[in-house]
Amino acid sequence: MTGQRDRWAELTGGQAGEEYAQRFAQLAESGHDVHGEASFCAALLRPAARVLDAGCGTGRIAIRLAELGHDCTGVDVDSSMLAVARRAAPAQEWLLGDLARLDTLGLRPGFDLAIAAGNVIPLLAPGTEPDVVRQLAAALRPGGLLVTGMGLDAAHLPLPEPPLTLAEFDHWCTRAGLTLRHRYATWSGDPYYEGCGYAVSVHSSPAT
Ligand SMILES: C[S@@+](CC[C@H](N)C(=O)[O-])C[C@H]1O[C@@H](n2cnc3c(N)ncnc32)[C@H](O)[C@@H]1O
Repeated sequence: MTGQRDRWAELTGGQAGEEYAQRFAQLAESGHDVHGEASFCAALLRPAARVLDAGCGTGRIAIRLAELGHDCTGVDVDSSMLAVARRAAPAQEWLLGDLARLDTLGLRPGFDLAIAAGNVIPLLAPGTEPDVVRQLAAALRPGGLLVTGMGLDAAHLPLPEPPLTLAEFDHWCTRAGLTLRHRYATWSGDPYYEGCGYAVSVHSSPAT
């Protein structure tokens, strides 16, 4: 671990797993599509792709992508979230660890896609974001994709104000060798525009 507490842990005390899972179960029961992120990624992949769910939480995205035929590994630093994932899909690979130290987890690199959804990037420990982006980029195969979803204003974040700008994020990605390929305002692919409050970004690593 980096020794610094991530913003998610500051918000939840590391005890939010069951409550988080219940929230999504209720959304699903009331007819909401809770698989937007997984569907978005699946459209970019051919089975059986290797997917890293970075900050996987309760595993809802990795579990759905595995159902769609992909080979998924989930990494999260919050054991209460991972406990839900392990209970729901014991046969899948779930690793307790810090994304800023991904290289210490013994992961085989060469992932086709890494996803950091659900505001993982804004919820990292302050100052660790560039390291995490670099670690995620290093985990990709040549031409692999980094898919992120993050709020850009208080209405789209569980924080009083955004801890980072999209320009900063893009800068960290560029420094990590990634190129922005697509940007949307939603997981359904609605067009991104300045002030829309949310960004779904697809960056790619160099092809060779
Ligand atoms: C709002 S949850 C989103 C979970 C999941 N991606 C989803 O969309 O349902 C944010 C997650 O990021 C994780 N996280 C924050 N900082 C992390 C870090 N440095 N390493 C690993 N996971 C981290 C938290 O533990 C939490 O599970």
